[in-house]
Amino acid sequence: MLRVAVLGAGRIGKIHAANVAANPNAKLIAVADPFGNAAASLADQLSCESSLEPTSLIERDDVDAVVIGTPTDTHVSLMLHAVASGKAVLCEKPIDLDITKADAALHEIERLNGRVMLAFNRRFDPSAQQLRRSIDAGSIGDVRQVIITSRDPGLPSREYLKHSGGIFRDMVIHDFDMARWLLGEDPVELMATASRLVDPTLTDFDDFDTVMVQMRTATGRQCHINCCREAVYGYDQRFEILGSAGMLQNENLRQTTVRRWTRDETEAGDPLLNFFLERYADAYRNELNAFIAAVESGSPMPVTPFDGRQALRLADCALESALTGRAVTV
Ligand SMILES: NC(=O)c1ccc[n+]([C@@H]2O[C@H](COP(=O)([O-])OP(=O)(O)OC[C@H]3O[C@@H](n4cnc5c(N)ncnc54)[C@H](O)[C@@H]3O)[C@@H](O)[C@H]2O)c1
Repeated sequence: MLRVAVLGAGRIGKIHAANVAANPNAKLIAVADPFGNAAASLADQLSCESSLEPTSLIERDDVDAVVIGTPTDTHVSLMLHAVASGKAVLCEKPIDLDITKADAALHEIERLNGRVMLAFNRRFDPSAQQLRRSIDAGSIGDVRQVIITSRDPGLPSREYLKHSGGIFRDMVIHDFDMARWLLGEDPVELMATASRLVDPTLTDFDDFDTVMVQMRTATGRQCHINCCREAVYGYDQRFEILGSAGMLQNENLRQTTVRRWTRDETEAGDPLLNFFLERYADAYRNELNAFIAAVESGSPMPVTPFDGRQALRLADCALESALTGRAVTV
């Protein structure tokens, strides 16, 4: 039974804490959040302890592992504190917004033999797992092209956007990770375009809301990512993989599979599952299971800080390409 502390009682911290509490192989010891009564009210719901001091909670002897669901600029310091205290870590994406800081963190984790998993949850979605299994089984031959459509239902708040690090590091970072994972190779060249078609005032944060990225690996495999902060019909998450012997696709998820045909509609169904907390509910649970299994067995972490670093590097290259209008060597 892994004894777990969850740091951060916001949107993602609540999900992780509830999943830990419900997991038969884990025990939720406490949740920590230094602000307001977020930790106390979450702890109340989940029957665990609460704390306003994340660092003291990390150090407790009855905590084996720490889940970090705090704002991005706190990830590295909390992660390193946990590693130095001998705790296994599951840390939310992105690892940081600054690649130099991320590289220094990787070095320190390695020096301390730290056990850290990056929380790229989409890899653990049942459909994504099936895509990877089908590729591994050779069912579509050699991968040639990966096409990723990733659209949010609407813009987040301005307060969120102000601290997000921009669309490439905050949102497309998931897709960069999925691209690497599905291509099976790291991209070596990248081109991106970025626009403000949803909210022109994003100039205030030097940010964009609508982007396209094209990437190529050393063997010539290609990837296209299209990403928008607003799709009026809901959260749109699709993959298409073309191989030498076929193609794989996944569909968006809905509450039920019922379709309706009337005078005014053809094939109308339930709305798409909105938003990430609903769409990826299984993925968050599977991700936690994978973390617990890796910690308990001592096997390699299924997603590493290096994966977090590589996705961040692609995000940085995409921003550079979008700003300069040139292809960037990764
Ligand atoms: N993997 C995913 O699908 C996913 C989804 C959403 C957010 N995230 C990531 O999770 C992180 C948190 O995002 P969110 O949307 O939950 O934010 P949020 O603002 O809803 O919650 C963050 C919480 O952390 C608390 N906090 C701040 N500093 C802290 C500290 N030092 N120790 C403990 N708690 C602290 C805040 O008070 C807040 O309650 C971000 O890095 C974000 O990129 C990942």
